[in-house]
Amino acid sequence: MAKQSNNLMDKLVALCRRRGFIFQSSEIYGGINGFWDYGPLGVELKRNVKEAWWADNVRMRDDIVGLDCSIIMHPKVWEASGHLGGFSDPMVDCKETNKRYRADQMFLISVGEGEDTLHFSYVESDEDSLKAAFKRAGKHARRCSATNPSDDPATHLPFGDMAGGTGLASVVGPDTTTPGTLTEPREFNLMFQSYAGAIQDESSKVYLRPETAQGIFANFGNVIDSSRMRPPFGIAQIGKSFRNEVNPRNYTFRSREFEQMEIEFFCREEDSDKWYTYWRDRRYKWYIDHGLTSERLHLREHDAKELAHYATGCADIEYAFPFGISALEGIANRGNYDLTQHTNASGKDLSFFDDQTRERYLPHVIEPSGGVDRATLAFLCEAYTEDEAPDDKGNMQTRTLLKLHPRLAPYKVAIFPLMKKDGHPEAADKIFKECKRAGLAAFYDEKGAIGRRYRRQDEIGTPFCITVDAQTVTDQTVTIRDRDTLAQDRISADKVTAYINDRMRVE
Ligand code: GAP
Repeated sequence: MAKQSNNLMDKLVALCRRRGFIFQSSEIYGGINGFWDYGPLGVELKRNVKEAWWADNVRMRDDIVGLDCSIIMHPKVWEASGHLGGFSDPMVDCKETNKRYRADQMFLISVGEGEDTLHFSYVESDEDSLKAAFKRAGKHARRCSATNPSDDPATHLPFGDMAGGTGLASVVGPDTTTPGTLTEPREFNLMFQSYAGAIQDESSKVYLRPETAQGIFANFGNVIDSSRMRPPFGIAQIGKSFRNEVNPRNYTFRSREFEQMEIEFFCREEDSDKWYTYWRDRRYKWYIDHGLTSERLHLREHDAKELAHYATGCADIEYAFPFGISALEGIANRGNYDLTQHTNASGKDLSFFDDQTRERYLPHVIEPSGGVDRATLAFLCEAYTEDEAPDDKGNMQTRTLLKLHPRLAPYKVAIFPLMKKDGHPEAADKIFKECKRAGLAAFYDEKGAIGRRYRRQDEIGTPFCITVDAQTVTDQTVTIRDRDTLAQDRISADKVTAYINDRMRVE
């Protein structure tokens, strides 16, 4: 199963590179870890994910408005939000290899028997590296977690003991076979730093935002004062965030530069449970509506000990990626923690005065916070399919297709003249232009056998292919082929855009 999953990931990564969805950033210089570029098709797919989110959560609603805040904000924002003090991961260095690992993502594997012969392997928590480490460690290997040793008390070995010169410091890293020595875990702040202005000292230090949410809280008063919005209402933002992740991995899943789509929904305290449930269920449904299947998409409520001290509820929408089950989005009931923090730190009263009830209160907040790159990756993983389909001569061949929802697919339609003569190109070009005028991303292709043209579109997820043939020239009808079912309908050429728009709709 793990092998198959890896295969799927390898094939998807290769397809994304080959067809121009995703490239490694700075590839010509050997790449840079944790940064990715979206190619011509990837940028369309990602833009469609964002536009679908924006349309459904802002444009279609009366109770949410948008915002686009600066990436660099006053450093006091991050003091008030707690990011300067607490936004960190525990990390350890291997003294011999100089590699750095996240302590909370490592498992310890004890090797050997008896107190004196202990020797450890440390690995990251994905199943494949665990298995490889177990294999290296041999038959005496037992498994225990560095941060949650209570999982298996028999193998409880506190991380500090191992690293702290007790004689148990011999380790083998996931990417080396030679034993090494780990440092004590240290807290590592994930915010990227820079300087604003010509003088680089403490007073000019600034941070790239690690989340878009704080820009929304800092502007709460501005939005209230400049619009007619009154709780219950939300403010939405899509934008880049930056985290200096210790171990970026799993393709675009954990990157150092990524995009978030966040809503802060402000309401009265007594209504907050109702709105929490509403957003949790609505956000889950959004992913299902756009093609993720319920077998792979899970809603996981956090238990009380996982919750931040100010939160009264939190759920993760998780997806079963080929590399493991991981979160796409979190929905949290954050109380009025953030507005309280910013009120206290800035000295500006961010409470809301309800002129109907004559009450003043600090609204509570429900926060659905998703990642654009993670959603895009989940849609790609779900869409990747191999099946059998007949070629031009009717022989069954393996075909690769991306079953992307039509709303998300980079191109909505490809238009093919069957022949390069007899009026086919002219009729096809007319439909092509018509599609573009209607705002549909369309692709024109007159080269090669028709079967090959279909395959190239299947592989990039184009849901509809239109073929213009001799009959089109006489009766203005075309065939429209469905990527997934291979069914071909004959429709009037002037109905093409309406047909496609209809199929793109999400109920
Ligand atoms: N304002 C709340 C917040 O930022 P989070 O769980 O840290 O919460 C929200 O982040 C979402 O942002 C995650 O569910 C994920 O989709 C995305 N995200 C976070 N860190 C990421 C990273 N390093 N790479 C890609 N996406 C990330």
